[in-house]
Amino acid sequence: MGKQKRFRIGVLGSGKGSNLVAIADACRAGRIPGDIAIVLSDVQDAGILRHASEREIPHQFIPPGPFRTKLDETAERAFISVLNQAAVDLVALAGFMRILRGDFLRAFPERVVNVHPSLLPSFPGLEAWRQALDYGVKVTGCTVHLVDQGIDTGPILTQEAVPVLENDTAASLHERIQKAEWRIYPETIAGLLEGRIPIRGRQTGSKASSPP
Ligand code: GRF
Repeated sequence: MGKQKRFRIGVLGSGKGSNLVAIADACRAGRIPGDIAIVLSDVQDAGILRHASEREIPHQFIPPGPFRTKLDETAERAFISVLNQAAVDLVALAGFMRILRGDFLRAFPERVVNVHPSLLPSFPGLEAWRQALDYGVKVTGCTVHLVDQGIDTGPILTQEAVPVLENDTAASLHERIQKAEWRIYPETIAGLLEGRIPIRGRQTGSKASSPP
């Protein structure tokens, strides 16, 4: 029997990197049929780079340029070029704090995914767990979605609900949501790579394959 292709994943993050760890563990355990080919960060001392280094995963800091919420053109080109050199099949954002626009998304069509700490379309943007707590919802959760040009607006791939408990603080709620992220993000990445999540516009997964 021929050797099964192992997919190559690029991970981009700006923060502590717990989702990178979950994805790396899933690759190692065979729950994702692939490997992390490269980890990139716009933050030189980000935890995600440290986790990559500890696991001997290739990693690199790329200076983002002068803007606070996006990459400048040179930086965006550098991100694209390193990901292409690494021959990635999928780009997974894991706490990457900059908006990616046209050129980047066109370089990896329907191949950039993100995990967001709320049940989208509720609470897009920053600190979604705090937004949920302040709003007073009783259930929130996390969402894995394809990245488009908007902020947390791309087609939804998977979601997991997480209850908001009576005595929750922002920190305790975020922690419970992250545990759900560590479950659904690797699972969704595996599903996408294995072609188990068809995408037809906003209709994804099993819904996409049902007759109209
Ligand atoms: C996660 O909560 C994710 O939903 C959000 O950024 C956070 C990243 O956490 N997009 P980590 O760096 O993976 O621990």
